[in-house]
Amino acid sequence: MNKKTIVIFYYTQSGQALDIARNICIPLENGENEIIYKAIEPETPFPFPWTCRTFFEAFPESRLGIPTCKIKEMDLTDVAGADLVIISGQPWYLSPSLPLHAFFQDGKIKAYLKEKNIVNISGCRNMWVMTQRKIRKYIYEAGGNYVGHIVLQDWAPNLVSVLTIVRWLFNNQKAASRRLPAAGVSDEDIKAASRFGTILNETLANSEWSGLQEKLMQAHAVKYKPGVTFLEKTGHRMLGIWAKFIRKKGGYQDKRRELRIRLFCYYLFFVLYVASPVGIAVFYLTYPLRLTSIKKNRREMCYELNWNNNMKIQ
Ligand SMILES: Cc1cc2nc3c(=O)[nH]c(=O)nc-3n(C[C@H](O)[C@H](O)[C@H](O)COP(=O)(O)O)c2cc1C
Repeated sequence: MNKKTIVIFYYTQSGQALDIARNICIPLENGENEIIYKAIEPETPFPFPWTCRTFFEAFPESRLGIPTCKIKEMDLTDVAGADLVIISGQPWYLSPSLPLHAFFQDGKIKAYLKEKNIVNISGCRNMWVMTQRKIRKYIYEAGGNYVGHIVLQDWAPNLVSVLTIVRWLFNNQKAASRRLPAAGVSDEDIKAASRFGTILNETLANSEWSGLQEKLMQAHAVKYKPGVTFLEKTGHRMLGIWAKFIRKKGGYQDKRRELRIRLFCYYLFFVLYVASPVGIAVFYLTYPLRLTSIKKNRREMCYELNWNNNMKIQ
């Protein structure tokens, strides 16, 4: 029997997105498949841990999907006929990370993704909805067959995970401390992600790609949180306005935009710790009025992978 080829494209700073992909692929390492990992590497790497300056400097271009550099060229000859393409990455500022934007906008990658069966994995804090939408659009534009979507997220309460992620991204401390839990996706969730690999393996054998997402959902591949999504959608709109406002002063690393970036930084902390608790309270007070749209959103975010041109993203 011919071996199936699975290629995993990944971008990660801490190793989390790769760890998730490796665990998902454990059941695929059964001698029947060839599994090939390809790192997405920006020509100019982003720092990890971040400084305040580099972190906020990356905001406007992340949010608007304007890559700050290309990705290093990849040799795709060994995966030309891959049966399954897995892309493992993360959101930055409610949009795909800059290396993911560069990956999807690369002409060679775009041509490669055409007609490939593609599964996307997001390893994030808790706001992935608009990123997933943008990735749907990228895959649609490349002519790929988007067959599966898996999200692994941090289960700590929203404001707690803001504190732990700041500590992780700026001080490289992921582990729990006396007062705060560990940051990011838990080790248990990463280990348990191998259950998705079992489903991928069955689908590789029977080629029933159109039913994959339904099966992944039976294994809880995506947990949709309506309150967080409400905040994210509002935040996505506001961050879009800020990103355009900052870019009016100049492009990536242009000194003339420093003041606007600093104002955005104050705005973000205000939104996180003042506006979002109020927003969540309003959301739950009006919850009964929102039931129909919550149901519709859950369906769209968890089960639907096709792009349709009525959907808004920018
Ligand atoms: C610049 C930046 C912005 C981020 N924005 C978001 C976000 O909008 N939503 C979210 O859930 N996580 C966000 N995160 C967390 C990442 O999605 C991811 O979980 C974390 O950076 C670890 O990924 P890694 O695999 O690259 O180490 C952000 C991280 C960075 C560095």
